[in-house]
Amino acid sequence: MKKQILSGIQPSGILTLGNYLGALRNWIKIQNDYDCKFFVADLHSITVDQNPIELRKNIKSAIMQYIACGLDPEKNTIFMQSHVHEHAELGWILNCSTYMGELSRMTQFKDKSKKQANIKVGLFDYPVLMAADILLYDADYVPVGEDQRQHLEIARDIAQRFNSTYNKEIFKLPEAFITENTARIMSLQEPTKKMSKSDENKEATIFLLDDRETVLRKIKKAVTDSENIIKYSDEKPGIKNLMNIYSAISEKTYKQIEEECKDLGYGKFKQIVACAVSDVLDPIQKKYYELSSSENDEYLKSICKKGAETAQKTAEKKLKEVYDAVGFIV
Ligand code: TRP
Repeated sequence: MKKQILSGIQPSGILTLGNYLGALRNWIKIQNDYDCKFFVADLHSITVDQNPIELRKNIKSAIMQYIACGLDPEKNTIFMQSHVHEHAELGWILNCSTYMGELSRMTQFKDKSKKQANIKVGLFDYPVLMAADILLYDADYVPVGEDQRQHLEIARDIAQRFNSTYNKEIFKLPEAFITENTARIMSLQEPTKKMSKSDENKEATIFLLDDRETVLRKIKKAVTDSENIIKYSDEKPGIKNLMNIYSAISEKTYKQIEEECKDLGYGKFKQIVACAVSDVLDPIQKKYYELSSSENDEYLKSICKKGAETAQKTAEKKLKEVYDAVGFIV
């Protein structure tokens, strides 16, 4: 039996090069070796204000980006979280196994709630729903970035507590899935900060749908230093970031890149990096635009429908066990 993998992303627009190199690309590499479920976390997305028209567009776009990046709908279960109602239901049950105190310690909540007024209960409760996502499917591994580690930890805590309260091994304890060489891509404008979709300065972020000209412009403008020497060093975060990007794409080591580019200077080096990035993005964009034609609406719908049905088979069983354990009459 293959090990179970589960992960999700929130539908909040076009993914970045950072999301691709740091996450999605790894998912594509593992899709043959594990039983993978990848979903669009639409329920999570409404923990902050959303415009319904935009949200609907972004959910569909997220599915298209999954497939365009190379997730094979025949090999993976791809679905929308809201299509499997067990997520919300298990979320409720787990709310009753989670302490206010432990949720109050979540750094993502603290960060996000600082940035806005009128904080919703849903935002506070976000990690519990995420725990439900994971525990419904007996996930062995959950590929998550650094920023979601704490949420994975709390999912383990909740699972453990639930199992011990009801004295039954209902939930499997999930582990973070760590892949080697996961690239951590930084902002092009402030290379000590992570590249983010929501950066106000759009020049700081490369998006999966940026055309060649845009990629070149953004990389040319990327903040570096004045040394004009291509060397991998923490003291040169801008160059280090560009080398990371290039290395992640070309699979060359830093040493090889230093050797290859030692006579280039930053201008030429940036052109090479930009070209490498666009060569990766071109086929993704081609596939994405193909999928976005209305002729493919039915195809996309059928993938999500099939995905939700497959996911639900597992989810349904698990929720029944849970209901039974807590004393509901099933
Ligand atoms: N919180 C994750 C993020 O923003 C998305 C997510 C929701 C998720 N549920 C999950 C990731 C379950 C992994 C497993 O990146």
